[in-house]
Amino acid sequence: LNYNVGRERRYILEVLLNGLRRLEYRGYDSSGIAIDSDMSSVMQSKSKPYDTAPPVVFRQEGKIESLVTSVYSEVDKLDLDLEKPFLVHAGIAHTRWATHGVPAPRNSHPQSSGEFDEFLVVHNGIITNYEVLKQTLVRHGFTFESDTDTEVIPKLAKFVFDKASDGEGGVTFSQVVMEVMRQLEGAYALIFKSPHYPNELIACKRGSTLLLGVNELGGETSRHLFHDVKALTANDKPKELFFSSDLCAIVEHTKNYAAVEDDEIVHIKDGSVSILKFDYEKEKPASVQRALSVLEMEVEQIKKGDFDHFMKKEIHEQPDSLTTSMRGRLKDGVVGLGGLKDHMRTIRRSRRIIFIGCGTSYHAALAARPIMEELTDIPVTMEIASDMLDRKALIFKEDTAVFVSQSGETADTLLALEYALQHGALCVGVTNTVGSTLARKTHCGVHINAGCEIGVASTKAYTCQIVVMVMMALAIGSDKMSTLAKREAIIAGLTKLPEKVHDVLKLDGEMKALAQSLIDEQSLLMFGRGNNYATALEGALKVKEVALMHSEGMLAGEMKHGPLALVDEYLPIIVIATRDDSFSKQQSVIQQLHARKGRLIVMCSEGDASLVCPDGRSRVIEVPRIVDCLQSIINIIPMQLLAYHLTVLRGYNVDQPRNLAKSVTTQ
Ligand code: G6P
Repeated sequence: LNYNVGRERRYILEVLLNGLRRLEYRGYDSSGIAIDSDMSSVMQSKSKPYDTAPPVVFRQEGKIESLVTSVYSEVDKLDLDLEKPFLVHAGIAHTRWATHGVPAPRNSHPQSSGEFDEFLVVHNGIITNYEVLKQTLVRHGFTFESDTDTEVIPKLAKFVFDKASDGEGGVTFSQVVMEVMRQLEGAYALIFKSPHYPNELIACKRGSTLLLGVNELGGETSRHLFHDVKALTANDKPKELFFSSDLCAIVEHTKNYAAVEDDEIVHIKDGSVSILKFDYEKEKPASVQRALSVLEMEVEQIKKGDFDHFMKKEIHEQPDSLTTSMRGRLKDGVVGLGGLKDHMRTIRRSRRIIFIGCGTSYHAALAARPIMEELTDIPVTMEIASDMLDRKALIFKEDTAVFVSQSGETADTLLALEYALQHGALCVGVTNTVGSTLARKTHCGVHINAGCEIGVASTKAYTCQIVVMVMMALAIGSDKMSTLAKREAIIAGLTKLPEKVHDVLKLDGEMKALAQSLIDEQSLLMFGRGNNYATALEGALKVKEVALMHSEGMLAGEMKHGPLALVDEYLPIIVIATRDDSFSKQQSVIQQLHARKGRLIVMCSEGDASLVCPDGRSRVIEVPRIVDCLQSIINIIPMQLLAYHLTVLRGYNVDQPRNLAKSVTTQ
């Protein structure tokens, strides 16, 4: 929302469309936008139920760029002047990852209350009682055009508005939204726009993240700028106010932001912001004050720079992201994690540590599990968040539950967190996203500080998550004399890690050549064990999700119990056999595979090529050696490069793989 700024329509469109480009990694099957028209430019209908100019809404299936093309051609057709300046303007936009209803313009957001777009809504999340609401609204004469759960929201707003005002006005925008919230169940972040309330926007949330960015032009932004909605005055500083699900979309405009809390309604009117706390019990909401935080993120982080793809950029950033992750946390051989300090006693006394996550984050936890057990002497169990919920897994108040999530917004992980909180466990967060739901709802935690990750396939966040969990193991186990030597070896390893990662990235060309040789394969297996079981799973996941090639990561110890039947001279198999305690076992796995004429690609420590492959029959990837618990960080990098090159060579979209989203905010 622009206030007192006098921006042209072209600028407003670009801010909204660029914001969507920044968020495209979260969903990219359809999108939409609503902006203000002006009385002269759009054909006016006498029968419209408001006096102001109607909003103009564009919805489009496909990538953001197809919305951009359609918006500019429609703007032309509708004769909307791109140079027209607005003193105040309220626009909304959305990119979608389909849950209810196929990607199609009618299912894209903004969803509308119907004719004349009296209420328009963009929504992140899921409305669980939409069917009941829909039936009621249909009984009251509403007709539905989409298959979405979201459509009930603007229609409910119109129903509430009509009922409360009898068509005569007199009800405020926040009163309407308050009543809508009272009836909605599920998780949501919503933004409402309505020509009944020109120049106003309302946002509210329950569950899903919603952030407010404030850019006061021509002066320092006040840290406590929230006050009740007041009338516009000519002396007010010009402002731009932004709502977004992710700070990536607003960082190029402002670094001043505030996180909206659950059950809060933020009302922007004439440039003033008021935050109201919704309460089922109370008729009148309480007004809330909130200080602004300053975002520590540079715009460069969300741009590709000289790289063709974000995934490539993020793979190559790893020496830096790991350095940042460790910065200030390793001093004189001691690990300090400020976020855990106050809870260390409880963690050390816990009966069990449970690692919980999904996808790549789960794999990172799996990679850190052996060292966590070794250094802390506390049993560590693993839970995939959805499975934990399906099984209603046993969890006790003596447990420490560590939730790992790059985005901090994955619905399954957050529901598992809710579950663990209810059962009284100490909940620790490991996330990359400052201000995320995970960061806010856990008792304590550690930010991985990997920098903004845009590629849907997680790379630098994975390695930073491992490094953070290794540091957690060091901190929790720092009171044990028996493991002092091991801890010293790990700390020495951590200081060398960025340099070794830099070295392993030199395998880029070799991995491209390997990808070339695998380009037409149907399937690829990866065998790992111990510290590198996770590497096999994560390497296979990378190939699966971006290169769209079937790939399975397997525990090498299980090979003889089934997978061996698949082995022949055609199926490519990657075996991870770098030096650690399980090296000799992996050597015998290699021999067993050789005996079945397996087509092997062996990853080994530098200088071990002739040891793992004495007859020179297999392809060998030699990687730098490091202390065992950090080896998985080195070993995953050639696999990330392989997945990247396979994808490019096979002609698929690296950063936005088919059917996937970076953060899955629905169950
Ligand atoms: C999605 C992404 C994966 C990611 C997983 C967990 O499925 O496509 O790349 O690993 O979510 O995400 P989180 O943000 O919780 O780490």
